[in-house]
Amino acid sequence: MAVPPLLLSSLPSLLVVLALLSSLLLAGRKARRGSATWKLPTGPAKLPVIGHLHLLGSSLLHRSLWELSKKHGPLMHLKLRRDPVVVVSSPEMAKEVLKTHDLECCSRPSLLSYSKISYGLSDVAFIPYGERWRQLRKFCTVVLFSTRKINSFRDIRKEETERVTKLICSQARASTMVNLSELLLSLSCNMTCRAAFGSGFDDGGDIQLHDMLNETQEALSGLFLSDYSPLLGWVDRLSGMRSRLERAYLKLDSIDQRRIYYHQARLRQQSKEDGDVLDALLRMQKDEEGLTKDHIKGVLTNIFIGGTDTSSATVEWAMAELIRQPELMKRAQDERSQFVGEPHVFDPERFMHDSKEADGQDFKLIPFGVGRRICPAKNLGMLMVELVLANLLYSFDWHLPPGMVKEDISMEEARGVNVHREYALCLMATKYDASTA
Ligand code: HEM
Repeated sequence: MAVPPLLLSSLPSLLVVLALLSSLLLAGRKARRGSATWKLPTGPAKLPVIGHLHLLGSSLLHRSLWELSKKHGPLMHLKLRRDPVVVVSSPEMAKEVLKTHDLECCSRPSLLSYSKISYGLSDVAFIPYGERWRQLRKFCTVVLFSTRKINSFRDIRKEETERVTKLICSQARASTMVNLSELLLSLSCNMTCRAAFGSGFDDGGDIQLHDMLNETQEALSGLFLSDYSPLLGWVDRLSGMRSRLERAYLKLDSIDQRRIYYHQARLRQQSKEDGDVLDALLRMQKDEEGLTKDHIKGVLTNIFIGGTDTSSATVEWAMAELIRQPELMKRAQDERSQFVGEPHVFDPERFMHDSKEADGQDFKLIPFGVGRRICPAKNLGMLMVELVLANLLYSFDWHLPPGMVKEDISMEEARGVNVHREYALCLMATKYDASTA
């Protein structure tokens, strides 16, 4: 039987809260089973077998949901899998869910792909709300993403940023196009991998990391019909979705296994303060009861996926917006005279009228989420984005490639857990010389 392409199209994450300028779209946190009786809101008319799956259309999930919400209101019930999905599309409703009812809504759905990639919901991001989540989350906030720990990786961030700046310099000298998308991904991967495991993304043995990242993202954003009904599991097997998920998992697991093996071997020679993130995780496993190797691998995966293309995608979109709006680019670069050789003090909030808006306090823009499941690495994420963006704007003038006008820059989004650009952002750079400016 042929499988309808719609049903095989990927389903972007229910994890990431997509904040779209003045509107807000949230699909995904779910109520803890048995903790409350839910009176579901209304939604569009559904079909007997496939519920609302046919309404998703061929566009990206967040776009389809946004269109549906314009017709059916800011609180809408959809049948897209076994449990009901409630789509929230206004700041007021988001406040109700993420603030007033956060406790009842702060577990995530246990979808097949999430469960597999998180080693059976053993990580921080997908584990249901409860004691184990609290324990892992506390470790993340107190140990991994504490100001002290973030500062301790300052040299890594600086070295990696300088490396990329040099690379862009040589491309600028040769007047060749800079593939910013590629460079930014490798930069954030290197920063994350060196801090987490002590070795970079590009270091020989880790070349498979790029493939692994792509395959894992693809698996996480795939729509599995088993999530809709176990009776439809055969469709996922027939379409190859199950084997792709299995392959991504095996690749991820072999990399995690290898890293843990090497780190365990050297752990005995280290003092408590020494080491990278994985060393700290292994120490925690020794000290805390009930933590398994799967918990360690789960958290490692969160760090790798959470720490890489979230920040690189943010910088990519920011650069694409700036190149399409030269007056904004000029305003951003006029700040260069104030940098005085210290681009890390770049403060994007200078460009915003209302800092409350940027911080998610009014629920219009919530790039890091809100409530109990808010991104535990918010400060690190902000730091990485600011540092990289500031360096790109401080060190170079950016231009469109010959023959292109700003309207040619595609703003099409790709499918995936994090919203990426569909097409790589390629620009021309010239080195900025502060002495002649
Ligand atoms: C610009 C960068 C980043 C953005 C925009 C971002 C965004 C988000 C969002 C929207 C969530 C879901 C929040 C919710 O459900 O309310 C989240 C959760 C999470 N993020 Fe980030 N993030 C970023 C960087 C990072 C980094 C660098 C790491 C780790 C190295 C990380 C690790 C996590 C983890 C572990 C969770 C799950 C927390 C939980 O469920 O308790 N993120 N992030």
